[in-house]
Amino acid sequence: MKSLILVTGGTGYIGSHTTVELIHAGYDVVIVDNLSNSKIEVLDGIEKITGVRPFFENFDLCDPFLLEKFLKKHPQINSIIHFAAFKAVGDSVSHPVKYYKNNLLSLMNLLAGMSDHRILNLVFSSSCTVYGQPDKLPVTEDSPVKAALSPYGNTKQISEEMIRDTLEVNSDLHAISLRYFNPIGAHPSAEIGELPSGIPDNLVPFITQTAVGVRDHLRVFGNDYNTPDGSCIRDYLHVIDLARAHVAAISRLEKKENILNYEIFNLGTGNGKSVFEMIASFEKISGLKLPYKIVGRRPGDIEQVWADTGLANQVLEWNADYSIDEAMLTAWDWEKKYRNNQ
Ligand code: NAD
Ligand code: WQD
Repeated sequence: MKSLILVTGGTGYIGSHTTVELIHAGYDVVIVDNLSNSKIEVLDGIEKITGVRPFFENFDLCDPFLLEKFLKKHPQINSIIHFAAFKAVGDSVSHPVKYYKNNLLSLMNLLAGMSDHRILNLVFSSSCTVYGQPDKLPVTEDSPVKAALSPYGNTKQISEEMIRDTLEVNSDLHAISLRYFNPIGAHPSAEIGELPSGIPDNLVPFITQTAVGVRDHLRVFGNDYNTPDGSCIRDYLHVIDLARAHVAAISRLEKKENILNYEIFNLGTGNGKSVFEMIASFEKISGLKLPYKIVGRRPGDIEQVWADTGLANQVLEWNADYSIDEAMLTAWDWEKKYRNNQ
């Protein structure tokens, strides 16, 4: 029998791609999203790709009464993937309470709902941001969690602790936190992708928006780092690979073979790429020259980070399959289609 998965934040960037992969894998999905950072039309994209329109409910997970009403209505839910959160690092520095409230209250309500309604499995969206600038590379899951550099990062650290504490006293609940490195790209159909809201912070949307003419030029934040070409290094992974890791995590939680109550996995490719390598990849797949200027370092940027993905490879039996060029091509196709439809 197919199980029903609650995907919070399922009309968002990673949630929508994960919904597609869950449907492909035979799961039923119900999405809860308040559309604070996504559009209802994302459901059309999911339906075009899969032929299935997931159930959808629009409400704020910070409201415990609406969540309770929803969970009563869907007693078949056995697992939750919790994507819903605010994610803009800079905005979180300016509006810390907004981030603590949204990201922590929504999770608190879900954890209470899981205990009350005997929902046994949780997959949580965490982030490599919990490692800060690690002392050793690549970063394993045992690397120390460093003092958070932003309120956003702190919400991820606190969330992981909240999950750990809740599981301590609820031994029938299981959770997996997935620490994403840098997700990029879009579905190859270009039916869903990352929806730009305002000026993007992240590198790849900034590259594609510059190439399409929305931005004048890309600013490369520093070329004087202690890296081979002087620019920062990150572990960029295709959002479809990331989405498939969630399907693997759900499958592991449902099987419960040799599983601990709480498990944590890094999700990346295991390879670091510099900003200049990302620009070169874009120029290769698009055949365009990208206008850019080298400017000063961005405050708070870490120099280099990439994942040791051995644990996810082995335990989740998951691997990142897509190359950077493939991911960049899908990001570019999505950007062009999005602009043509404006
Ligand atoms: P996104 O903003 O595209 O998706 C989040 C979705 O959650 C949005 O559709 C938004 O409307 C919804 N939402 C937010 N607060 C809500 C609430 N209180 N109630 C109901 N819905 C709510 O973000 P994303 O890039 O898809 O990220 C998903 C998750 O992954 C987030 O938890 C984020 O912190 C985490 N993450 C993202 C990245 C990244 O680079 N994109 C990296 C690491 C971790
Ligand atoms: C990547 C690289 C920039 C924009 C963020 C969050 C982190 C996590 C992942 C959620 C850096 C450089 C960027 C630009 C540039 N998200 N850059 N010009 O900094 O790794 O992390 O996303 O959990 O919490 O902080 O990603 O895409 O912003 O930057 O030169 O216009 O590109 O300096 O080296 P980052 P990013």
